[in-house]
Amino acid sequence: MKTYLVTGGAGFIGSNYIHYMFNKYDNDIKIINVDLLTYAGNLENLKDVENRDNYTFVKADICDKDAISKIFAENDIDRVVHFAAESHVDRSIKNPEVFVQTNVLGTLVMLNCAKAAWDNGDGTFKDGKRFLHVSTDEVYGSLPDGNDYFYETTPYDPHSPYSASKASSDFLVKSYVDTYHFPAVITNCSNNYGPYQFPEKLIPLIINNILSGKKLPVYGDGKNVRDWLYVMDHAKAIDMACEKGRLGEKYNVGGHNEKQNIEIVKIIIDTIAEMLPDTDERKAHINYDLITYVEDRKGHDRRYAIAPDKIKSEIGWEPETMFAEGIKLTIKWYFENTEWMNNVTSGDYQKYYQEMYK
Ligand code: NAD
Ligand code: TYD
Repeated sequence: MKTYLVTGGAGFIGSNYIHYMFNKYDNDIKIINVDLLTYAGNLENLKDVENRDNYTFVKADICDKDAISKIFAENDIDRVVHFAAESHVDRSIKNPEVFVQTNVLGTLVMLNCAKAAWDNGDGTFKDGKRFLHVSTDEVYGSLPDGNDYFYETTPYDPHSPYSASKASSDFLVKSYVDTYHFPAVITNCSNNYGPYQFPEKLIPLIINNILSGKKLPVYGDGKNVRDWLYVMDHAKAIDMACEKGRLGEKYNVGGHNEKQNIEIVKIIIDTIAEMLPDTDERKAHINYDLITYVEDRKGHDRRYAIAPDKIKSEIGWEPETMFAEGIKLTIKWYFENTEWMNNVTSGDYQKYYQEMYK
């Protein structure tokens, strides 16, 4: 039985990944989830797995070397799947320090603790150990409108403090591969959407604002392009890259689903209007007049688009969920989980929203 150390498992992608893994492997794996429970971490995301005998939650900071080494000392960890990070570009523009702290120094601590635990003492590592570093396509910078794509060979050119911190963490992982032959694989994924996403990101923010009758803020001209991937497809890619990826390699993960932000907003408006029953009084007010163009994000990357050819040809992964299906599943989830949304949007979120969208 393999033991997984998952960092950031109480966040959006991490919690979906944990669900994916228990659905797939059931009692054949053990997962230890280490999460600091920042504003983005939420144990409600893991309610249905919390009582499993093969699941353990540890509240800890990935920057805390003693806490992380203790987990390695007490468990024979086979896989590290490293999600924990500060993940929101807008927050990184306002407060870059915590991004460097968590994303760069936290990754360094994870690498050092795994390296120490897996070291045979003769410059080799114990057989079968793997460190999967979860990263983003934002490290590649921005593409012009057109037909160019991000490949694994595209030079890094990060623009936001978030993407710069993720790029630094990728380089640290690569340096451990190049210097120590450390057994790591990196995945660089495009924008995810799906259940449990915190409503600071475009898709859940728009869903929540529509359902609560608020304006829909669109940055700049609304024509920036993102390549959207359903989160469960990402979870599958991570699992496959971890098991089948060549050590030391990086793999781009993407949905082949480029859309302008304004298209996304209109699709969500149309889909919610279609899905709400006629008896719901909110329905009458759901239309494109809710859209409000607001000041552009500083340094706003124009376009992201992934070429996932390498992960397809080497590993056999492809996106499976069409956007039309994935967005319905996502909206349905938010319809059915109003309490989750109410809990995460009370308190600090109100302050964040006022400051961000004033
Ligand atoms: P998220 O913000 O929803 O979750 C991050 C999690 O990390 C939270 O549970 C938080 O409590 C935890 N965390 C933060 N700081 C920590 C610390 N110091 N110690 C321990 N835990 C800490 O993020 P997400 O969207 O789920 O992203 C997960 C990973 O995937 C990140 O590394 C991100 O860069 C990467 N990624 C995200 C996307 C996307 O579209 N969301 C796309 C590609 C890659
Ligand atoms: P976001 O979900 O923050 O992801 P990322 O910045 O990592 O791509 O934003 C997706 C796109 O939507 C991005 O181009 C910024 C834009 N956006 C808005 O137009 N309005 C908003 O309120 C938010 C949060 C994002």
